[in-house]
Amino acid sequence: MTDLLKNAVATGFENLFGYAPEVVWSAPGRVNLIGEHTDYNEGFVFPFAINRHTFAAVALRTDAVVRVASAFAPGVIEIELSEISRETASGWSAYPLGVAWALLQKVEGGSVQGFDLYIESDVPVGAGLSSSAAIECSVAVALNDLWELGLSQRELARVGQLAENEIVGAPTGIMDQSASLLGKLDHGVFLDCRSLEAEVIDLGFAREGLELLIIDTKVEHRHADGGYASRRAACEAGASALGLRSLREAGLADLPRAAELLDDVTFRRVRHVVTENERVLQTVAALRERGPRAIGELLYSSHESMRDDFEISVDELDTAVETALRHGAIGARMTGGGFGGAAIALCPIEKISEISRSVTAEFALLGYAKPDVFVVSAAPGARRED
Ligand code: GLA
Repeated sequence: MTDLLKNAVATGFENLFGYAPEVVWSAPGRVNLIGEHTDYNEGFVFPFAINRHTFAAVALRTDAVVRVASAFAPGVIEIELSEISRETASGWSAYPLGVAWALLQKVEGGSVQGFDLYIESDVPVGAGLSSSAAIECSVAVALNDLWELGLSQRELARVGQLAENEIVGAPTGIMDQSASLLGKLDHGVFLDCRSLEAEVIDLGFAREGLELLIIDTKVEHRHADGGYASRRAACEAGASALGLRSLREAGLADLPRAAELLDDVTFRRVRHVVTENERVLQTVAALRERGPRAIGELLYSSHESMRDDFEISVDELDTAVETALRHGAIGARMTGGGFGGAAIALCPIEKISEISRSVTAEFALLGYAKPDVFVVSAAPGARRED
C-alpha cells in the first residue's frame, strides 16, 4: 500500500503539473493510546504514529506562487505565498497552506520560493486518526527541506499546530503533530506537553500477541466546531478559578478544593484532565513494569471519564467500547477529540475477528451506520521517501 501510494502521488503530480516532483515526503496519522484533552492543558499524552500515511509530492517554483492539489478533492488551488490567511484558505487546502504560512513566520527577513504540491492519503478522514496532522506534517517536513530551514521535529510540530490554530481556525493542541513527527516502529510517543520533552516507549503489543483495533463509528466530528472549543474554554476557566496557569499544575490532592470552588460542570471537566494525566503516567509505568496486558483497566477508566466527566462520547462510541470488552478486548476507549470518530480496543490477536464481527453486528442491530473496523500498528514518523 505504502509503495503504491508513493508512486501514485508522484504520477499524480506529474499528470497534473506536467513535470516530475523533486521528492516525495510522507507523514503518518496517529492514534492516541491515552491522554485525551490533556495536551492543551500542558499535560501528558501517549499517542503513536500509525501505518496510514499522507504522501506529499512537492517541487519548488521560481516565483512566489503556490499550487496545491490532492487525489481526494477536485481542482487546483492557486495563491501567492504572501496572500495566505484564514480568509483566503479554506477546506482541505487550509492545512498545507497553513503550514506554508506558519513556516513563513520563521523565515526572518528572507524570501522563499513558491511550490507545487500534490497529496494522496490513506489516513481515514474524520475518524479521529489525525488525517489533518498527517497532511500538515508531510508538508512541514517537505518545506523544511526544500526551503532549507533546518527546523527540528519539535519546532515543526509547533508549526503544524500554529497552522491549525491560526489558518484552519481549530484551537487544537500539540499532540497530533508530535506523534506524526516523532513516531517510531512499535513504540508510543510519551509527551510532556509543558516541556515538549518526548520519550518513545516500547509498546510490546506484537510480543504479547496483541493488536490495536480501530472502530471508526463514522459519526463525523470537526474540531473547528463548538464542542472541542467549549471543553477547552471550561478547562481554562477551571484553571483560572483555581489560581493556576494551567490544569497541569493541579493534582489529585487539589480535587476536593476544586469541588468546593467550581460549579459542577467545570469541576467534572477539571477532574477529567487531572485524572487523565495520572492515567497516562500509570499507563507508561504499567507498560514498563508489567507489559501491555496491564493497561486495559486504565484505558477503560479513561473512557468512563470522557463519557461521564468530560461528556464528549456518543452512543456509537460507548457501544463500540462495551461490545469490544464483552467479546474479549483487554481494554477499550474512545480516542481523539470526541463527539464522533473512532474507538480503540486492545485485543488478543485470536479475538480480533470475533470482536470485529460482534461490533459490526451490534451496530446493525441498533440501526447505526456500518462501522469501519481495522487494525493499526505503531509506525515511524514523518520522513523524506527516497
Ligand atoms: C484532537 C486535537 C488534539 C487533542 C485531542 C484530544 O485530536 O487535535 O490536539 O486535543 O483532540 O486529546
